[in-house]
Amino acid sequence: MLKTQLKKEIEKALKEAQSKKELPDFKLPKFTIERPENEKFGDYAANIAMQLAPIIKKSPAEIAKAIVKHFKAEEFETPEIAGGFINFKLQQEYLIKNLQEIIEQKDQFGSERNNKTIVIDYSSPNVAKPFGIGHLRSTLIGDSIKKTYKKIGWNTVGINHIGDWGTQFGKLLVAFEKWGDEDELYQKGIKYLYNLYVKFHKEEEKDPKLKKLAKEKFKKLESGDKKAKHICALFTHASIEEFDKIYKDLGIKWDLIQWVAGKRNPRIPESEYNKEAKERTQEWLESGKAKESKGAIIIELPDKNIPPLLLEKSDGATLYATRDLAAAIDRYDKYKFDLMVYEVGNEQALHFKQLFLALEKLGYKWAKDCKHISHGLYRFKDGKLSTRKGKTIFMEDIINDAIEKSKKIIQEKNPDLKNKDQTAKKVGIGAIKYNDLAQHRQTDIIFDWEKILNFEGNSGPYLQYTYARIQSIIKKSNVGAGHNLPTQFKEPEEISLLRELIYFPEVVQSAAGSFEPHRIANYLNDLARKFNLFYNKLPVLKAKNEETKNSRLSLISAVAEVLSIGLDLLGIETVEEM
Ligand code: ARG
Repeated sequence: MLKTQLKKEIEKALKEAQSKKELPDFKLPKFTIERPENEKFGDYAANIAMQLAPIIKKSPAEIAKAIVKHFKAEEFETPEIAGGFINFKLQQEYLIKNLQEIIEQKDQFGSERNNKTIVIDYSSPNVAKPFGIGHLRSTLIGDSIKKTYKKIGWNTVGINHIGDWGTQFGKLLVAFEKWGDEDELYQKGIKYLYNLYVKFHKEEEKDPKLKKLAKEKFKKLESGDKKAKHICALFTHASIEEFDKIYKDLGIKWDLIQWVAGKRNPRIPESEYNKEAKERTQEWLESGKAKESKGAIIIELPDKNIPPLLLEKSDGATLYATRDLAAAIDRYDKYKFDLMVYEVGNEQALHFKQLFLALEKLGYKWAKDCKHISHGLYRFKDGKLSTRKGKTIFMEDIINDAIEKSKKIIQEKNPDLKNKDQTAKKVGIGAIKYNDLAQHRQTDIIFDWEKILNFEGNSGPYLQYTYARIQSIIKKSNVGAGHNLPTQFKEPEEISLLRELIYFPEVVQSAAGSFEPHRIANYLNDLARKFNLFYNKLPVLKAKNEETKNSRLSLISAVAEVLSIGLDLLGIETVEEM
């Protein structure tokens, strides 16, 4: 990676200056190499001179001068000193070499090798509740993180820890017994369950007895009541069918699906950890790691500010957290992961803090390799969403809306396009994904169709459109890119595009390291913007001579390649025409 290499070269220059006694001995301080906001400051800027100045009591200018004097990396022009910074600019020769690499390596550009394993727990919706837009974020961010880690060579294990246990089952069992009908459940699926759920909450306000009934029902279920179990299996089945449809539409594929989809697909859902959770709780109690407290079993945590974790209620029932402990241990046994991340909303921050501290206390060294990757909420203009009051927006409706709306726009823009339906689907889904992934995951997202489907910039459709535009130029050219590799670019718009292409591999690395897909999204948007600036100013097919034409064709096909790799990391499909 260029940045790491540059760091080493700077260190080399410093050592050289020391050996020549131009600088005294010192311990190298932390310093950063950034991409400057303004292109005129080169491709990279280092703050080493400023960091070092107070340590060796020399002026930043003096230190910078000594570094520049001994800096020898041939990829770079002579560095420039600006204030406390040293600015580094790549030789055009090197930029062209990078271009060549993209054209040769194709979709392998930016790929790395590594033998580590990451487990990613994401999506994880709850059975008998609709897959709301709330689980969408986890699904999209988790999937992008998985793809990004795959790109940099990790083994990835994506786990969908479907919530198929919890008090909502007691409520639904009561509701189903009172007002439900099996045939209708078969026909209408999860929306029917959802209506029952909403009805239960309405009735419960009038009749508090229902709450007690629901508790009793859940207890029955926990003690293994056959009939209750059978009905719950129906709920699960209806939910899984719905989830499967959504994953298919969104193009999400699972490495391991922890659920039981009827009998057809017996794998490990959350409830499967009930037994293990109970057994382990007993072991921890016996070994003194857990203790009794008011009839319940708890585990005290090594951080005084964090409340103890409840492992077992006084009625003997395990909890979400207990099952998560059992699941984490099972996953480590199976995958020996180097990193395990949970992509779950901010509201579960305390749960995961407790979980990781409990694992640490229980002596699992790998607890430090577990991480909660949290995200903000989706908001509509009228506030937060709630499942209880019947305000939930169904994923299915959102997906259909997005496709429908995209189709309308495509129809207007390109009435002769073939495969409109297929394209509209890719564009609509891409639009939803980009809207989510282009924003920092911690921020709340306002769902605004106008922005989501804005073909003019910073949207999924804009990137897909840019890609398609390039493809159409290349098709018309009748020559593939890279036949005659360019030797020189002169126009500022060409050079700026060429320089942008350098950063892709490090953007992928940093998106992986910070679990922030928006870094990739923003990069792609910049790249597309630069391409469009270039293309609005400079002709490609009608360039003044063959050589220029070929150079520009190489340049734009590299842009298309990087756009397509990057979009793939966001789970967005490209289209050849739109
Ligand atoms: N089903 C949970 C929910 O919707 C999320 C589960 C996340 N994964 C986990 N291992 N706790 O709130």
